[in-house]
Amino acid sequence: MAYSNQLKTSKRILMGPGPSDAHHRVLNAMATPLIGHLDPEFVVIMDEIKQMVKETFITENELTFVVSAPGSAGMETCLVNLLEPGDEAVICQHGVFGGRMKDIAERCGAKVTHVEAPWGEPINPDDVRKALETVKPKIVAIVHAETSTGVLQPLEEISQMTHDAGALFVVDAVTSYCGTTLKVDEWGIDAIYSGTQKCLSAPPGLSPVSFSDRAVEALLNRKTKVQSWFLDLSLVRNYWAGAKRAYHHTAPISAMYALREAYRIVLEEGLENRWQRHQRNHELLKTGLEAMGFEFLVDQQYRLPMLNAVVIPHGVDDANVRSRLLNDYNIEIGGGLGKFAGKLWRIGLMGESSTPNHVHILLSALKEIIN
Ligand SMILES: Cc1ncc(COP(=O)(O)O)c(C=O)c1O
Repeated sequence: MAYSNQLKTSKRILMGPGPSDAHHRVLNAMATPLIGHLDPEFVVIMDEIKQMVKETFITENELTFVVSAPGSAGMETCLVNLLEPGDEAVICQHGVFGGRMKDIAERCGAKVTHVEAPWGEPINPDDVRKALETVKPKIVAIVHAETSTGVLQPLEEISQMTHDAGALFVVDAVTSYCGTTLKVDEWGIDAIYSGTQKCLSAPPGLSPVSFSDRAVEALLNRKTKVQSWFLDLSLVRNYWAGAKRAYHHTAPISAMYALREAYRIVLEEGLENRWQRHQRNHELLKTGLEAMGFEFLVDQQYRLPMLNAVVIPHGVDDANVRSRLLNDYNIEIGGGLGKFAGKLWRIGLMGESSTPNHVHILLSALKEIIN
């Protein structure tokens, strides 16, 4: 039986849409002995992580912590806590993940006004403005880095019009966080969630989140119970705050050890330096791919530095190239999602996977496979 052998996986080079490669310091941290999740030493670790989330989101928001589940649970935390049945919500969609937000908002019983952009383009602020002339929503929600298309969505103008309309601004930063400029307080973001497996280069399965005082006020004014017990902020926040911690669930202790180390690495590098590194390596990849005749899906000014959406040239077999990259070169890249299946490659340069070496290895392998 295969499982009678000790676990062994191939040593992959992770250049897909996540997870990214993890630093050996992060992997080693996970081997730290377990302690209880209410042990005073673990409470200190939670406090440190909370502080590091605040520093990296660039926020003073008190309600800032890490959901013990992946980015989709962060998304759900924001929406189920802010929306009640009958509330109006403007949900922007320019790819797969905006669609997931819309689905969750509808499951909350919200009346959704859907603002769309063609996949591969950002949301046009004028379309949000028009929507705000017809409805008075409680929230406007949008994806900062649409991982399915490689689009970086400018946020500040839409944030301003959201506030002018008296609504809360909700942002998905799963892919952008720690890989490109993101300033929660300065940009007026009221609720934000991310993931750990992308530019943070920690193991998947956790979701840093943060809520402004305005968002907290909306939580306090709810008339109905949040339908999810696990994600209900009025319960889980007591696990992350206050001198006396109340048991809510058992935190994924080893994953938190890893996250703490990943944050230490981010802060040692410095956020600005990290953003610039992601941009430099994106440009290196772009130069190499364009020299080989590849084209990007997205216009230059809206391209994500950490997720490169590259059009698969006519006559090139998507599945064959990706399986040769994986089996012969140990390199993982992503295929297209949704309507882009078979049409796009999604090449991740995230966190520890954003290095010149990753770029050179991939370009060399592609040259050998395609020529
Ligand atoms: C933009 C975006 N939002 C949400 C998610 C969901 O995150 P997770 O897969 O960690 O649940 C992803 C995952 O790729 C994502 O890219």
